[in-house]
Formats: sequence, structure tokens, C-alpha cells
Amino acid sequence: MAKQSKTTTKVQGQPKSKAKSTAKTNSETKSKTEPRIDANSKSKTKPAVQAPSDAVARQRWTEIAADITRHDVLYYQQDAPEISDEAYDALRRRLADLEAQHPELAIAGSPTQRVGAAPLAAFGKVRHAVPMLSLSNAFADADVADFLARVRRFLNLGEDAPLDVTAEPKIDGLSISLRYENGLLVHAATRGDGTEGENVTANVMTIGEIPHHLVGQGIADVIEVRGEIFMGHDDFAALNAAQARAGEKVFANPRNAAAGSLRQLDQAITAQRKLRFFAYAWGAASKLPGPTQYDVVTTFKTWGLPVNPLMQIAASADALLAFYRDIEQRRASLGYDIDGVVYKVNRLDYQERLGFVSRSPRWAIAHKFAAERATTILRDIEIQVGRTGALTPVAKLEPVTVGGVVVSNATLHNEDEIARKDIRIGDTVVVQRAGDVIPQVVEVLIDKRPASAIAFQYPVVCPVCGSHAVREQDDKTGVSDVVRRCTGGLICPAQAKERLKHFVSRNAVDIEGLGSEKIEFLFDDGRIKTPADIFTLAARNGDHAAPLQTLKGFGKTSVDKIFKAIDARRTVPLDRFLFGLGIRHIGETTAKDLAKAYGSIEALTAAAMAAVVGGPDSDAYREIDDIEGIGATVVDALIGFFGEPHNAEQVTQLLHEITVAPFVRAVASDSAVAGKTVVFTGTLTRLARSEAKAQAERLGAKVAGSVSKKTDYVVAGSDAGSKLDAARALGVTVLTEDAWLALIAQN
Ligand code: IVH
Repeated sequence: MAKQSKTTTKVQGQPKSKAKSTAKTNSETKSKTEPRIDANSKSKTKPAVQAPSDAVARQRWTEIAADITRHDVLYYQQDAPEISDEAYDALRRRLADLEAQHPELAIAGSPTQRVGAAPLAAFGKVRHAVPMLSLSNAFADADVADFLARVRRFLNLGEDAPLDVTAEPKIDGLSISLRYENGLLVHAATRGDGTEGENVTANVMTIGEIPHHLVGQGIADVIEVRGEIFMGHDDFAALNAAQARAGEKVFANPRNAAAGSLRQLDQAITAQRKLRFFAYAWGAASKLPGPTQYDVVTTFKTWGLPVNPLMQIAASADALLAFYRDIEQRRASLGYDIDGVVYKVNRLDYQERLGFVSRSPRWAIAHKFAAERATTILRDIEIQVGRTGALTPVAKLEPVTVGGVVVSNATLHNEDEIARKDIRIGDTVVVQRAGDVIPQVVEVLIDKRPASAIAFQYPVVCPVCGSHAVREQDDKTGVSDVVRRCTGGLICPAQAKERLKHFVSRNAVDIEGLGSEKIEFLFDDGRIKTPADIFTLAARNGDHAAPLQTLKGFGKTSVDKIFKAIDARRTVPLDRFLFGLGIRHIGETTAKDLAKAYGSIEALTAAAMAAVVGGPDSDAYREIDDIEGIGATVVDALIGFFGEPHNAEQVTQLLHEITVAPFVRAVASDSAVAGKTVVFTGTLTRLARSEAKAQAERLGAKVAGSVSKKTDYVVAGSDAGSKLDAARALGVTVLTEDAWLALIAQN
């Protein structure tokens, strides 16, 4: 499209107005656009016009921004402008004037801050200064008491020490991070993968409940307010009715409607959808307005942020459970969807000490409501083969709506479960789903069983590759595993495909645009059989088969994007790489523990190969086993993996294509214990062992499970046994708990 400029008007960084050559003339568009433009420009030219109130200004801003966006799309993307250049420039001037009177409106996503319609093609990415984490779940009453007991243990609080916890509804929407600088909203980002989200600033600016600027006392220079965007029941019903009338897609539930409405490329659509917001947490903050969760959130309210009015403080498991039951009873009348309640340790100094484990804070938990249920007919049972060869039975159901979502598949877990529940094909079954978890078949309604119902014969060979499928036996207990596994390993196409999918997945190597469907296709097509093939895909493109971009479902743009995304991952952090290999029992946390312990892929593979060669009685095996958080199951899985030549070969090939970045610890390097290896032994009294370990690691120390010549300090509590003896024998410095605390208190 021609983009020569007619004028060189600059509007807040907007370099040029649009080309006359592609715009229609004034007279052509007059009838459609002039009345509105005229009316608006009149108010602009009035001298000494009074600035509109905040609410009016925001409303106008939203309308004009949406108008400009629409015209940008018509002009830049569809080559079909509807208004003249002059009219367009007038719109931009109006927006710029409005932003001059209300600087809080001049946000990053404003049309005055961008050129053309380009940013609308997709949302930009925003890296969260502090990751957006999720919550671990409690389902049973006992889990709540366990949570409190865990917190007390970690903090070393006696049973009678006060421990306040906030309780509030868990809103079923989508989480958002709003960054305010000097009180002004500067950007808004979705959660994304927790580390990086999408920049939805311009869309969030259209949500009436979210202030563009904070008001009141003690506002931090920088604060990332976190909370939930959601849609109320009435607005959801009205939206779906309107969508149905217009022949448009209706949404399955308010959460999908909220997500779909926020992620609109056209802000005008977001503006029409009635989205709401509750603030309940924060990310980066230059200072906080109080010492407790409750103080901070109630202060948010005074700054103009909506907070949930039902938040309370409780001081015991009983009080938390009473809150839970009360909210559960009121659930249907709240006017918005909730899927449980959230408990958070109130004192922020406690929250800091408790820290995080994997992706969830130790100081909070979500107590979920019981799952929603429905009854339907089980038509068939299919077997899926997973990444580790596990055969999983899946119920194919007569589609049924459960809690607003249509369900046609549900997991049956394993063969024992089918036998225990006596599930037969043709049965009427009860299905439940809770939140995002896979729906499950809970029970069979035996009195509805037809005479034609068929018992299911569980396969003893893999339905995909025909290899034997076996239930492993625990050598020690003789008990057989509930899971039947295909023994085909990488010769099983299902396992190979699932491993590839896992390798590219978000929390592993994270190759954008290479989702499950694409992997299935590229595997079946023969282009990608191993992880290394992913990285040679571009170089081989078109060699022996039709170039990818000529195939159905792969345009040139999408292929370029995939190649780019692959190139962006030619260097992968060690822990993600390790997790991506898909070794049994090596989840994200264990992968991190191993990465932390070995630092580099070379050191780790050397250790694993030495253990493969040496076997369970070797020093090499014991060395891995000694790492904190690692036990024999993981070591066995690790050597099982590296002991299989196929796997070792795949890793070698992969390392020809990519660089695995050494694990870098995000810890203080200036502490007295940075770089030192520490072993804790015996009973500590001032700190719980887990806190002592977490604290040592934060300060840059490596915590080991056993004493060796490499150990710098052994911290010995009471009743220390063999490790203390070993320390003395090796001449390692032994510290009391107090001496250790004094040491880390120095800088
Ligand atoms: S606190 C560090 N409070 O639940 C975690 N989360 O399963 C801070 N959610 O990603 C989250 N209501 O999207 C918190 N009152 C509430 C919540 C809430 C809904 C969501 C949130 C989070 C998810 C975790």
C-alpha cells in the first residue's frame, strides 16, 4: 500500500499523517462522517474550553481511540479508508488535546503513541518484573488444617502463636497485572506463562472499573496491582443473547467471555463488553502501604481500585472453614462466578520468609468448591498413549454440559479404576469437572445399566505400536504399578510424538507456534522425528519434499514465524532443557534441583553416565542421590534414561544443534556464604529445615545432603549423628545454628 505522506504533522511521536493517495475525498465521505467530526471539532476550537471531568474524558477517549483504530485498520490493513485525511487528522488532534488535558490517558497503547495499525496485528509481549504465579489447591477440610500446620512448621511458630490469615472469594476470571508509575496506569499485561504476558493496555483502558490514575495517600512510585478481570452473570447473559441475535459465537461461560472480550484486537469491542475487576495482590512495588495483606488490599480500595468486599481475617482452621461454607452458600447470589476461596498469610514479613515453591507461594492456598456434576452415557473407551508410555483410558461420552462447558471426553485414570467402578460401555455415568482439570467419570448408575452394556477388555499391547504393555512391579514391595505402560520407548510413534510435544511446550523449551497439531503433522509427515530435527527443519526445508509453506495449514508467514521461534530457542536454560527431555519423575522442580547442583549439561550428563556405568552401588550414583530433593526414584529414572542408547544419542544430536546455558542462580553474590557448600544436620530450633535451606540458597550457598571434602560448613542442630562425625573426620567447619545465623547476618 502506498504510504507517502501528504503532511508532516507530528502528533506525539506519530511521524506522519496518512497518504492522500489512498484516502477518499472529503465529499465522498462527508455524509457518513462529517456530522460527528464537526460536532467534535467545534468543542476543540472553542477558546478556554473547560477540561471535561475524568469520567467524561475517559469515555470520550475510549470512543475516539476506537474510532481512530477502526480507521487505521480500514486504511492500513484493508486499503479501504472511509474518511478524508483532514477528518482523520482532526480525530487525532482531538485525542491529543484530550490527552494533554488528562495526561493519564496517554498510555502506551494509545493511538497517539503508535504508528498505523501495526500493533493491532498481535499484542506485544510484556515481561513481568515479578512473575505471576498460581496457587496450590486444597479440596478437603483437612487440607486447610494441613496448610496452616505447614506454615507454622516452616516459620517455626508454636501452636499457640497467633497466625492471621485472610480469606476471600476466588474469582473465576483471568488475572491481570496493572503497572502504575507515579499513580498513572502505564501498562496492563495478562498472566501469559507467568513470566511473560500480553500487553493489553489499550483494552484495559476501556474498562470503567480500572482507574487510569490512582488517587489518595501513600501511593507508591511504582506498583504493579494484580487482580482478576471478570464478567458478571447479568452482563454475560446479555452479551450471549446479543451474540445469538447477531448470529455470532456465544460463550461457554463468563470466564471465556471475559477472556475473549479482553483479547480483542479492536478496543471498541472490549469497550462495549462490561468487564469488571477486583484487585487482590501485587507484583513489583517501590513501597507498600502497610505490613499486612489486609492493609495493602484495603489501601488499594482508598486509591480507587475495586477490591472484593467479602475479604476477612481469620485466625484458625475452623474460622477459615466457616468462611468457606458461608461463601459457598452465597455463591449463586454473588452475581459473578467464583470457584473457591483463597487463604493468604496476613503478615507480609511471614509471606516473605515463606517464599515460593515451584510456581506457587507457600503463604497462600486456594480452597476449591466441589466439582460440578452431570449424568450422561458412556459410548466407548479409547486408550491414549502418553509421553512415558502410560496407557490412559478415556471415556467417549454423549456430550453433556457440566457447569457451563460441554464435555465429551473424560478420564477413567487406569484399568484398576475401571474395574473398581465396574464401568461398562453403554453405562449411564456421573461426570464431574472442576475448573481447568480434565473431567472425570465419578460413578456408574447401576440401575440404569442396559442389558447390552459391554465390559471393557483392557489391552495388553500398545494400541499404537503393538509392543507389550506391562505393569511394572516395585522390586521392594512387589506391588504392581496401577499404570500399564507401552514398552516400545521411542519406537512407539505415540511416545515419540508426546515427547516432542512436551519438549516444545511452554514450561520446557517453549517454541511458540509449534503446538500439538503441528508436531503431529510434522511427525507423521516424517520431517520431525527427534528433538534435534526441530532445529534442522529450516535448513532441510524443500530438500526432499514440498517446502512447508506450500502445504495446507502452513502459509509463508506462519512458517517464517515458526522458524524464527525455533531460532529464538537455540540457547536453552539447563533446567528447561532437562525438564524438556521428558524423563520420568523429573518435573520442573526436580529439573531445577539437578540444574542447580550440576550447573552445566556437561557436568550433569557426565554424572549420569558415570552412575549408569557404576550402577546403584557406585559413588557416582550416591552423589546424585545425595542432592537435596533428589531420591533413588529420580536417580533410577535418570540413569534409566541415559542408559538407553537411543536417548543418549538424541541428547548428543540435540547438543550439536543448540547451546544449553549453564544454570545461573538468582541469588546474592555478596553474602558471606555465597558459593559455599552447606549441610544441615540434626534438629534446628530457630528455623525449620526447609526455611534454613531456602534462605541459604537465596544467599548463594549450595545446600548438600551429605558431607564430603567439598563441604564448607556443617550446621549441626541437636541430635546430629553421622554427618557430624563425618564433618569432624574430614575437618569440615561445624557451626551451631546460632553461629550459622550470625554468619548469614553479616554482609
Ligand atoms: S492470589 C501468588 N487471590 O487464581 C498468587 N488469586 O489459581 C496470587 N484468583 O492466577 C494470586 N481470585 O488468577 C489470588 N482472590 C484471589 C484470586 C486469585 C482468583 C486466580 C488468579 C491466580 C489463580 C491461581
